[in-house]
Amino acid sequence: MPWPAIEPLVSDRLTLEPLSLEHAPSMVDVLSDPTLYTFTGGEPPTLDTLSTRYASQIRGPADESQGWFNWIARRHDTGAPIGFVQATVESQSQDILAEIAWVIDPAHQRQGFASEATAALIDWLHAHGVTRLTAHIHPEHTASQRVAHRQGLRPTSTIEDGEVRWESPSHDERS
Ligand SMILES: CC(C)(COP(=O)(O)OP(=O)(O)OC[C@H]1O[C@@H](n2cnc3c(N)ncnc32)[C@H](O)[C@@H]1OP(=O)(O)O)[C@@H](O)C(=O)NCCC(=O)NCCS
Repeated sequence: MPWPAIEPLVSDRLTLEPLSLEHAPSMVDVLSDPTLYTFTGGEPPTLDTLSTRYASQIRGPADESQGWFNWIARRHDTGAPIGFVQATVESQSQDILAEIAWVIDPAHQRQGFASEATAALIDWLHAHGVTRLTAHIHPEHTASQRVAHRQGLRPTSTIEDGEVRWESPSHDERS
């Protein structure tokens, strides 16, 4: 199916900007704290690594069976980028499914920014036909669990690569 075009999203304190290559230099700093990778693995990217990753994310998947959507979260008050949210969208039986994820710079954590950005992301996804959300979260990652729970996702019994699969009720189950 044709996926919708990504667009800027605005919430109370944040603008979510569609990812562009110009974000890479400032995002190298945002993603530089090793504690960001405690529960997900990975390491702080170099500018080269991040530029290559962003080029791929912007290009999207080759077969168009998925849609890739990436936003950089920028604070209104300081103008600083502080993290990102992303969604991978695909059709699955009756549902349009979005796998979602969120990252906020430790210097800006515990101020509700992940929850605010994720809420804006989910509003947009629902407005564009997504019926079910999933996220994969390490069983000891309390902060990420709280973000998911607040958005209506709940843990399932499915474990994938050591992470618990969280899901929102499908559109059919809600109605
Ligand atoms: C997960 C993450 C995005 C949360 O960002 P944040 O902006 O601090 O989150 P919020 O301020 O919106 O807080 C969300 C909830 O988590 C709680 N929380 C935040 N940090 C916490 C911590 N270190 N320990 C326990 N709870 C925490 C908040 O109190 C809040 O709880 P509430 O909804 O019950 O009030 C951030 O910790 C992060 O980027 N971690 C590393 C990247 C990562 O693992 N991403 C997840 C991939 S799915």
